[in-house]
Amino acid sequence: MSNAITLSSLTASPVAPSVAQPLETQLDRIRADFPILSTSVHGKPLVYLDNGASSQRPTAVIDALSDYARHTHANVHRGVHYLSQKATDAFEGARETVRQFLNAKSCKEIVFVRGTTEAINLVAQSYGRPRLQPGDEIIVSHLEHHANIVPWQMLAQQTGAQVKVAPINEQGELQMDALAALFTQRTRILALTHVSNALGSVFPIRECITLAHQHGVPVLIDGAQAVPHTAVDVQALDCDFYVFSGHKLFGPSGIGVLYGRESLLQAMPPWQGGGDMILSVSFTGTTYNELPYRFEAGTPNIEGAVGLAAAISYVNAIGLDRIGAWESQLLSYATEKLSQIDGLRIIGTAKHKASLVSFVVDGVHAHDLGTILDQDGIAIRTGHHCAMPVMEFFGLSATARASFAFYNTKAEIDALVSSVSGAAALFR
Ligand code: ALA
Repeated sequence: MSNAITLSSLTASPVAPSVAQPLETQLDRIRADFPILSTSVHGKPLVYLDNGASSQRPTAVIDALSDYARHTHANVHRGVHYLSQKATDAFEGARETVRQFLNAKSCKEIVFVRGTTEAINLVAQSYGRPRLQPGDEIIVSHLEHHANIVPWQMLAQQTGAQVKVAPINEQGELQMDALAALFTQRTRILALTHVSNALGSVFPIRECITLAHQHGVPVLIDGAQAVPHTAVDVQALDCDFYVFSGHKLFGPSGIGVLYGRESLLQAMPPWQGGGDMILSVSFTGTTYNELPYRFEAGTPNIEGAVGLAAAISYVNAIGLDRIGAWESQLLSYATEKLSQIDGLRIIGTAKHKASLVSFVVDGVHAHDLGTILDQDGIAIRTGHHCAMPVMEFFGLSATARASFAFYNTKAEIDALVSSVSGAAALFR
């Protein structure tokens, strides 16, 4: 990760904090970069612990979106006029920022999509559908978000393939031996999450990719919950497809990324037809555009890409190493403090976790807990987290989930613990 861009170049802050300092010593000024964090909710200061659902945007992103609208907007790849060129430069510049962020070899491998969900559907339909035959197999894990289950089930229905499920243990860890045993001559793709949105477990994706490649099977990694917390190098991972969303990475919603290995993308037919994905169209036939445009039919989310690039630059300026170090402290602190509450059980105790705690409290439904916490200004997510098979595995209908970003503080965790303790006492 490059730390070359200083925070002050991205925000109005007068002095750039030194990247050498631990992040926690700069929390006040980092928090000041996020205007929404000074909001009050029900008369209380906002404590935003729902970053797994969507994270907040720094001024750098808000300004990039506003600047784009004020000074740059036009359609891309279409006009010879000044603004169209400027917008195209901004859009393609954003693609280069994403390429560097993932360390992809080429911008041809970076496809802008609406988000993680669209990226997975694209791969299922464009990579999977032409290839899969009745009896072929797709492997997913028991810990996947619905976005990494349902597109594969749809593909299985369309092709006669079947979806096989790699099991997890009681800690919420992938059972590697069981995963290895699932591969057969008919396995065609492995689709796994990098970090579980429901439990926070971090999967050993490097080992999983190596294992799959030993069987000649390509791998799609759902990185939606990973990229805000850890650096990703698709070349070092030897990954085939890696997907993520902008809005969990402090950027806008409605923009996401499909990284695809060039040789695989080259061999895939377009997913959607329309403008910009063609070289020529006539009623006798159409030729498709080169990568990555072949997968970007229609006017893209230009400002979304620009905002995402600003978010990535902001994260790079802080440094994912420092983010990881601080979030690991937040996770330990929250785990320790929440564990002390009578009747509270943490769901998901994997050895390697991202900064997210899922929990249940005896006698208190997760939704009631969420509502009580909201009255204290605390935002968490409650429910099945779009991961119903995970809930089923633990015999639960819902959990409460506090998910942390680098701008969260230990004082906010104290507020969470105090509010959860109060709720637990109320129902006892
Ligand atoms: N996938 C998002 C979450 O985990 C919405 O909350």
